[in-house]
Amino acid sequence: MHNIKNICCIGAGYVGGPTMAVIAQKNPDIKVTVVDINEARIAAWNDADLDKLPIYEPGLDKVVAEARNRNLFFSTAVDEAIEAADMVFISVNTPTKTYGKGKGMAADLKYIELCARQIARVAKTDKIIVEKSTLPVRTAQAIKSILHNTGNGVKFQILSNPEFLAEGTAVQDLMAPDRVLIGGEQTEDGLNAIQALVDIYATWVPNENILTTNLWSSELSKLTANAFLAQRVSSINALSELCEVTGADVNEVAIAIGKDSRIGPKFLKASVGFGGSCFQKDILNLVYIAKSYGLNEVADYWEQVIIMNDYQKRRFAAKIIQTLYNTISGKKIAFLGWAFKKDTNDTRESAAIYVADQLLEEQANIVVYDPKVNAHQMQSDLNYLNTRSEEDNNQYLTTVSNPHQACKDSHAIAVLTEWDEFKTYDWQRIYEEMQKPAFVFDGRGILDKEKLETIGFQVYVIGK
Ligand code: NAD
Ligand code: UDX
Repeated sequence: MHNIKNICCIGAGYVGGPTMAVIAQKNPDIKVTVVDINEARIAAWNDADLDKLPIYEPGLDKVVAEARNRNLFFSTAVDEAIEAADMVFISVNTPTKTYGKGKGMAADLKYIELCARQIARVAKTDKIIVEKSTLPVRTAQAIKSILHNTGNGVKFQILSNPEFLAEGTAVQDLMAPDRVLIGGEQTEDGLNAIQALVDIYATWVPNENILTTNLWSSELSKLTANAFLAQRVSSINALSELCEVTGADVNEVAIAIGKDSRIGPKFLKASVGFGGSCFQKDILNLVYIAKSYGLNEVADYWEQVIIMNDYQKRRFAAKIIQTLYNTISGKKIAFLGWAFKKDTNDTRESAAIYVADQLLEEQANIVVYDPKVNAHQMQSDLNYLNTRSEEDNNQYLTTVSNPHQACKDSHAIAVLTEWDEFKTYDWQRIYEEMQKPAFVFDGRGILDKEKLETIGFQVYVIGK
């Protein structure tokens, strides 16, 4: 049996940071050290000013304040933390490959492999290695092969413990998870390792919510969960266009079908398209895995979720262009929101980036206001697409820190993120300060269409 006293987590990102903060808060007897090679990120995690934490998540500051420097530590000393740990979580990024075989589809596992090699090099005592990152099914096999060939006699057990938190609700999701999933080898040593991790979660998660499986089921369940969730969004988004041409209302349809307990009401909000670091990457990965086993029909089925999502983003941009009399060159278009969803500063794969890119191709002037995303991030998101020069991106997309400044003198407003504050703005004032006709394109279905129309706006809402 294991009695875990010291945990190391490699990767202090959106998953490693909040997850370890909660584990440390709930297990004051375990020392938890979160390490990262990104010095600025670690410095921000250690900043005395909790507003400067590198990740914005409601409630995270309180958890960090309670546990930090008690039994929660953030450090760049990776080797020392690995060496001291009984259990090492790997929570590094696993982005889509941008080169070589599987480019644009497969998960890039180089950071995972580097971690495994570093653990193999540094470890002097037996350890449980926990895959926290989202990984292709059978990755544990590769990690095992690297770890078991060190020749120094150290024993390792590998567990899969995928994370299901969603950004913006990470703390809430960690405090009361629908389930914790732990996969491991079905041997005596494997089952002991599983139990060690179960014990850590059991300090706050009810036993019936802790599921244990074999390694491959656990690894595959994570990709599958994201594929199912994204598929719901693409399904309702596919219907949103049909609603627009037939007079049905996508919200009413969502409520009507969601009342069926077999379907359920969640994740049926039509939108300008899903974003975030996970859905697209994980589905592409699933498609790649299916193809690599020759399961082409399976691959095609899941790929359609991405095809639909890309179409939804293009369709929204096209709607703006078409409504503004097919010319937006030199017109000011205000963006409300840049983050991929509300209550996060994360912009990875945000629909706003792709809509902006398309409008910039038509020479629009875009002015963006987002409560949590800064100008530097927006520029770097656009530059990453490589569609035009950095100078042009900088000139034609500007960022302001006040929504009224964004909307003033604009020809149209596009809502790209569902931040709550957008609903409570003084829309009368916004109308008076805009060019006429004043257009609003609500890509999130959050504004009161009738009220805006009474003020005088011309309003387009996805799915209506
Ligand atoms: P992230 O990019 O925010 O954080 C990863 C961190 O790992 C970075 O700070 C990076 O510097 C660090 N890192 C990379 N290689 C390292 C190394 N060799 N040594 C030390 N540090 C290293 O990524 P994230 O959003 O936290 O995602 C991490 C994993 O969790 C991914 O596999 C992702 O798919 C998965 N996941 C993410 C979410 C989410 O909502 N973001 C949810 C569930 C699962
Ligand atoms: C997702 C999964 O939900 C989470 O379980 C997993 O661990 C990581 O990936 P995340 O990407 O953080 O989490 O946020 P999520 O709430 O799933 O939203 C993803 C995208 O879908 C966002 O752009 C969101 O706006 C969009 N979405 C979600 C919709 O457009 N409609 C919906 O009904 C729900």
